[in-house]
Amino acid sequence: MENNSNKNIMKPSVEAQIPAPPKGGWGVNSPFRGAGGNWSVNNLLRPNILALKPYSSARDEFSGSASVFLDANENPYDTGYNRYPDPYQQKVKERIAGLKGVRTDQIFLGNGSDEPIDLLYRAFAIPGVDNVVIMEPSYGMYTVAADINDIEIRKVLLNDEYQIEATKLLAAADEKTKLLFLCSPNNPTANSLDREEMFKVISGFDGIVVVDEAYIDFAPGTTLLNELDKYPNLLVLQTFSKAWGLAGIRLGMAFASQEIVTVLSRIKYPYNINALTQQRVLQSLESTEQKDAWVKTIIEERAKLAEKLKQFSFVKKIYPSDANFLLVKMEGAREKFEYLMNSGVIVRDRSKVALCEGSLRITVGSPEENREIIEKLKHYPPTP
Ligand SMILES: Cc1ncc(COP(=O)(O)O)c(C=O)c1O
Repeated sequence: MENNSNKNIMKPSVEAQIPAPPKGGWGVNSPFRGAGGNWSVNNLLRPNILALKPYSSARDEFSGSASVFLDANENPYDTGYNRYPDPYQQKVKERIAGLKGVRTDQIFLGNGSDEPIDLLYRAFAIPGVDNVVIMEPSYGMYTVAADINDIEIRKVLLNDEYQIEATKLLAAADEKTKLLFLCSPNNPTANSLDREEMFKVISGFDGIVVVDEAYIDFAPGTTLLNELDKYPNLLVLQTFSKAWGLAGIRLGMAFASQEIVTVLSRIKYPYNINALTQQRVLQSLESTEQKDAWVKTIIEERAKLAEKLKQFSFVKKIYPSDANFLLVKMEGAREKFEYLMNSGVIVRDRSKVALCEGSLRITVGSPEENREIIEKLKHYPPTP
């Protein structure tokens, strides 16, 4: 049998190097204010990361194509997966770049979005010294990753409309604030953030602003991807876990200036995206038709589900959604959550989350699944 996997292993292009530190050195108090001008990622980096000599994989030291690979201590017998995967995922990045209208050097791929979230802390925030500003309520991993990395968390409550106020977020930051997380559309509140306020934050903040767009495909508003060239301190997160239907392969995208992408690439595990994931996503990326059809159906189903839920007297409010879930305020949220769980329908109880008191988060499912949850709720309370 021909051993295809031994041949034509693509050599990824060598990633750009981080420019030398600015004259006068670096440090947490360096003047990195302003998103334009002399903003440089070097002024933000942890000194140990700036000084880091990254792991050099066997495939880093060779360029061109060869037919005999005796450099990586692999098993020569073809299982389809006996070779290490491309550490830079060039083919996948080329497809994504074409689709999103960005350059490949603006893309970092991670094991879910959670990997770049964690790497950002590890690259920029000094444990026990630096801090992060986060909007509240929002996606829980920003907090968990900060706790793991021993980074102080400064939470700024959204207003009554679940919107950010740039002045409040900026007021919470100081010279030790390296990262600021925004999430639009936001989880669990389901709404998109005000664009103007987001821009005020991005241009007014010294450090890196992460805009998590995990749910952007379900939103009428547009992505901030085309703002990357304007704002070197902006990083946009997207994922294959939602609209693309690929949560199981764990593939998250971080889009940012080449400088930031280079930093993340230098500190990631060398082969962080496995061969199965790279293959599977390339298959899905051949066409956007299926994803677009799912998005259309989910958006239609979201409206139908909201209409049906409105009919229950215990439902007090269904928040407008730009995502693939609904935040629903109801009387006795915890009881409804437990009743549904006992009937085999699992939703997310958000009633203990700030500003979401008495609310459940319900993912928009297939038409059958949505009918099922409505049927179950019709039979509440259960007959003993
Ligand atoms: C806002 C937000 N970002 C990121 C993620 C996680 O994405 P991934 O599956 O790519 O880790 C989620 C998951 O629910 C999310 O709600």
